[in-house]
Amino acid sequence: MKRIVVLVSGRGSNMTALADRCTAEGWPARLVGVVSSRPGAVALEAAAGRGIATAVVDARGYADRRDFDAALAGVVERLEPDLVVLAGFMRILGADFVARFAGRMLNVHPSLLPSFTGLHTHQRAIDAGCTVAGATVHFVTAELDHGPIVVQGVVPLRPGDDAATLAARVLAVEHVMLPLAVRWFVEDRLRIEGQRVRQLDGAAQQILAGGL
Ligand code: GAR
Repeated sequence: MKRIVVLVSGRGSNMTALADRCTAEGWPARLVGVVSSRPGAVALEAAAGRGIATAVVDARGYADRRDFDAALAGVVERLEPDLVVLAGFMRILGADFVARFAGRMLNVHPSLLPSFTGLHTHQRAIDAGCTVAGATVHFVTAELDHGPIVVQGVVPLRPGDDAATLAARVLAVEHVMLPLAVRWFVEDRLRIEGQRVRQLDGAAQQILAGGL
């Protein structure tokens, strides 16, 4: 059984989608811990309710990022993960942390990377006049939101969309994409080849939500 640790900062809907799919589909894996950078995150309650161990590494308790990263790495390493998943984790991790989990850390980001790295992705996509938006699951590298892409989900922008309506539709796709990517990882169906990720069964690495 592969051991999955999920890092969160808030609501945790991606974490619950992952946990529930893992159980329902009987993956050769289980969530062994959910670690939050914020105390009181809704995700912690959701994890505990599913019998998953939880921990908090409160980002506000550390003077600088190195100290926070070192504390977080200690907590995560004690859980002996095969895979670390950043699911709504709102802290930037330093190069040392990323190197420790290289090739075994995935992030879900709410844009079609490489467009709109960072924050406020939906408003920026609307402001840029994009006609599609979406989300990306990628391996984490030291460069923020730039690692090899596992899967992308595309949703059309609709007239009258605001950041909230668009975020809700993108989130629904994230809840499909993230479990898909993690399942591929735990079943050894992904190979990183430079900046590309190959799905070894040839499965489509995109989800197109919304018809022609
Ligand atoms: C998701 O939309 C995720 O893509 C985004 O935060 C949301 C978390 O929702 N992540 C980032 O913006 C990371 N830079 P959740 O807590 O309900 O899964």
